[in-house]
Amino acid sequence: MNIRRATISDLMEMQNCNIHNLPENYTMKYYLYHGLTWPQVSFVAEDHKGRIVGYILAKMDEDATEDPHGHVTSISVLRNYRRLGLANKLMQLSQHAMKTVYGASMVSLHVRKTNRAALALYKDTLGFEVVKIEKGYYQDGEDAYSMRLLL
Ligand code: ACO
Repeated sequence: MNIRRATISDLMEMQNCNIHNLPENYTMKYYLYHGLTWPQVSFVAEDHKGRIVGYILAKMDEDATEDPHGHVTSISVLRNYRRLGLANKLMQLSQHAMKTVYGASMVSLHVRKTNRAALALYKDTLGFEVVKIEKGYYQDGEDAYSMRLLL
């Protein structure tokens, strides 16, 4: 398994992985926006044949009034490749790039209240804390935890 920075030519495979794994999907324009604007903070995991089996799509916050901070738009790993530590590594690499390239002091994300696996990853493995609950954040009405980690 190889983990490396995502390139523009990876974006379609990342989108495919996202569609398999999550109900929150994005237009290719949005992937391109991430890849072209903040090329350093998104990463992919690939198998021995170079097929993408996991990704993190991340960006920097655009509110210039605040200290620079990163945001994880989406992360997922294909079912057969889970519990191998890939998401943990993808998160760590992205967080490191947010801090070293952009001087980020914090990283934020949203996660469904019922997403046990992701919550365990964020809270127990990485040390994120819940900042607030955003009622009805998702299209189907589920609440989100707004989480953050100081870098
Ligand atoms: N149950 C409980 N804890 C879990 C689980 C699980 N199913 N999966 C991961 N964890 C926790 C564990 O603490 C684990 O450490 P351990 O294996 O030493 O016990 C730790 O997270 C690290 O696990 P990884 O192996 O790095 O995680 P993985 O590569 O399996 O990916 C992910 C986790 C991304 C949540 C995966 O299950 C997935 O793709 N799920 C579907 C998509 C998804 O929910 N994405 C997150 C949405 S929120 C957002 O994108 C901002």
